[in-house]
Amino acid sequence: MSASTVAVILVAAGSGTRLGHPEPKAFVPIGTRTMLELAVDAVLGMRETPHLVLVVPADRVDEARRAIAPAADAAGAPLDVVAGGDSRQESVAAGLERLPHLVDTVLVHDAARPLTPAPVFDEVVEAVRARGHGIIPALPVVDTVKRVDTVPRADGSRRVVETVDRSALVAVQTPQGFPRDALDRAYAAATEDFTDDAALAASVGVVVDVVPGDARAYKITVPADLRRAEQAVPAAGPHVRASAVGTPSAPASDPGPRIGTGIDVHGFADDAETPLWLAGLHWPGERGLSGHSDGDAVSHAICDALLAAAGLGDIGGMFGTDDTRFAGAHGEVFLAETVRRLAEAGWRIGNVTVQVVGNRPKLAPRRAEAQEELTRIVGAPVSVAATTTDGLGFTGRGEGITAIATALVLPA
Ligand code: CTP
Ligand code: MG
Repeated sequence: MSASTVAVILVAAGSGTRLGHPEPKAFVPIGTRTMLELAVDAVLGMRETPHLVLVVPADRVDEARRAIAPAADAAGAPLDVVAGGDSRQESVAAGLERLPHLVDTVLVHDAARPLTPAPVFDEVVEAVRARGHGIIPALPVVDTVKRVDTVPRADGSRRVVETVDRSALVAVQTPQGFPRDALDRAYAAATEDFTDDAALAASVGVVVDVVPGDARAYKITVPADLRRAEQAVPAAGPHVRASAVGTPSAPASDPGPRIGTGIDVHGFADDAETPLWLAGLHWPGERGLSGHSDGDAVSHAICDALLAAAGLGDIGGMFGTDDTRFAGAHGEVFLAETVRRLAEAGWRIGNVTVQVVGNRPKLAPRRAEAQEELTRIVGAPVSVAATTTDGLGFTGRGEGITAIATALVLPA
């Protein structure tokens, strides 16, 4: 582990009163990971690996260390975890006390801005070094800004006093970066509470410049901000990651419904002996489909739609064609395992629709039977439709079958 001259103090000791979640704000999940973990990801993604100081509620120090140490170790980042104070400023001060002498550049960042991209940190570090003073990321104010009466009238309304020239205004974010000695000096001299580190630094005469901020660095303050963040974290991301290491995990606290699409194609076998299995049914007298399994394109398309909706990858990834256990296996085997995996990952199935594209077999006479069988296996309504392609393409020439499925899944 190499010594770092850059440190990031990640303040995560607030309770999140306005968010109203039972957990302290930084420990609230977005998807399958906590705000703190997401914020740490960005910090560890910096070009220059920093010394990381986490400031968390006093009763969460051990938990935070356990959660973050493996990632910090893997990135080669020295890690300190300390208890915060009653105000954000006190929490930053607690973090500052931990910095080794070697550190010459300090960034202070809110864990409540978990989606801030790593390059924002890099730019702040670079600007602090190049200019030798405070650097804060900021966005232009896009709305028209009015000054209003500070005291509401009897009916609760507040009267507009004037329109403010917004060209002179910016909305500031974190990470805020400073030469270490300037920030130390500012904190040592602090006698009042400031709303951000830049204001505190400015109070002792430190020059502060803005650099362009990033819309994704917004602060999660109220429940609507959390919902926005849940949408922004790639829907499938946490699940794909989780399934890749073989431990599917529950969906986000309320990810809402998700849909998925699956397509499968199988060609008809050359011989007349291969039986046809389609939509979970055996079709006596019909030419069979070729494939590693029984070639049931309908069942396979449904598996893919379900896995896609739940963000669990696809059927190829789950049942590799080199796996001899599935040689010749019926669609039901794949479907049942898929349904089990979804349940394990915390999803229930809303419904599934599937359309078969091909000339044969004629589906209509057994459509109800197919729907019943698939509904039984999937444990949710499955509707089956069929169409031909007017003699066009491989399906039109009777060389094979395509099945296209759509699935809706919901948090269990
Ligand atoms: N913070 C901190 N110590 C405190 C208060 C806040 O480390 N005593 C941190 C928060 O964890 C957050 C950042 O400062 O990452 C910005 O604060 P804010 O968004 O206000 O978070 P909370 O104070 O937790 O939320 P609230 O004000 O709604 O209670
Ligand atoms: Mg606060």
